[in-house]
Amino acid sequence: MMNAGCQTAPFSTGIATQSAPGKLILCGEHAVVYGQPAIALPLADIRAYARLTVGVPGSGLRLYAPDLGREWIVDASSDDPLGELALTTLHALNAPHIDLVLTLSATIPIASGMGSGAAIATAMVRALADWAGQSLSPAEVSALVYASEQRYHGTPSGIDNTVIAYEQPLWFVRRTTAEQQIVADIEPITIAQPFTLVIGDTGIRSATRLPVGDVRRRWQANPDYYEDLFMQVGELTRAVRVALATGDLVGLGPLLNANQALLEVIGVSSPELERLVVAARSAGATGAKLSGAGWGGVMLALTDSADSQSAVTTALRKAGAVRVLETTVAATSGREA
Ligand code: PMV
Repeated sequence: MMNAGCQTAPFSTGIATQSAPGKLILCGEHAVVYGQPAIALPLADIRAYARLTVGVPGSGLRLYAPDLGREWIVDASSDDPLGELALTTLHALNAPHIDLVLTLSATIPIASGMGSGAAIATAMVRALADWAGQSLSPAEVSALVYASEQRYHGTPSGIDNTVIAYEQPLWFVRRTTAEQQIVADIEPITIAQPFTLVIGDTGIRSATRLPVGDVRRRWQANPDYYEDLFMQVGELTRAVRVALATGDLVGLGPLLNANQALLEVIGVSSPELERLVVAARSAGATGAKLSGAGWGGVMLALTDSADSQSAVTTALRKAGAVRVLETTVAATSGREA
């Protein structure tokens, strides 16, 4: 299992730099909130960074996000998720809250379904642990970030913080125990054949809690109808796992298309997402779907050759994507990294 790579002496006076990957949900978003499985992938090349330096005496704990043009001081009365998480982490590390500057940045598009918030939070927790000379396990990092996401995002399944902290393709199931505790069962998945995804960004920012809250209201009004849709998504996710484990990339595309169809019925797609999905399929993608909470953000397209990657990239740009990224998902054994 990976750890946060913390090597420095306790409370070093120097600097600590850590990072964390973005993520994509390949299959199962939304249904995962209701106990169905989902499959998530870390994006090793698209990352968030946290750089910790020791500030001048008396300057306090400061967060600096140059990409957003924001700098702010954190204290006990702070009502911002990152500031609170920094304080909680320092407390968990039994580390003094002294004069620190945390500079946060990311190459992950914000509020686009690629886990930018959880990745920045994870990088920050890792940098604080590094500075404190402590090693936090992926489970510990994930739990700290989840507590913060829960406070600000309502009912997150925990899939984002988990795949980002573990940094490996995961099977994720959220479960409520007999004691009413929410736990996640996670398993590394086997990927027999590498494959390439082209990611198209609609440029429409979407706060996860809005579509998640909307689905919850509609599920509460019509539970049987939505439970049935979520079960169908769960069946697809199980089939996607088998396709990945057996290297059946031909079978994978139609499963992703079927997931998109269900997400449309669940009500989390959008005209902009569908324009990109249709354009990708017309240009030769073997499957395409939205990824993440929906109503905006990104979609992903499965491609089977370098030619189709470039045709899909061109088609997505023409169809209005503000950003097109490409990622190759490596083969994995399904064992813990
Ligand atoms: O934050 P996003 O856009 O990656 O969406 C998270 C996935 C959902 O299933 C929609 C919500 C959740 O908490 O699992």
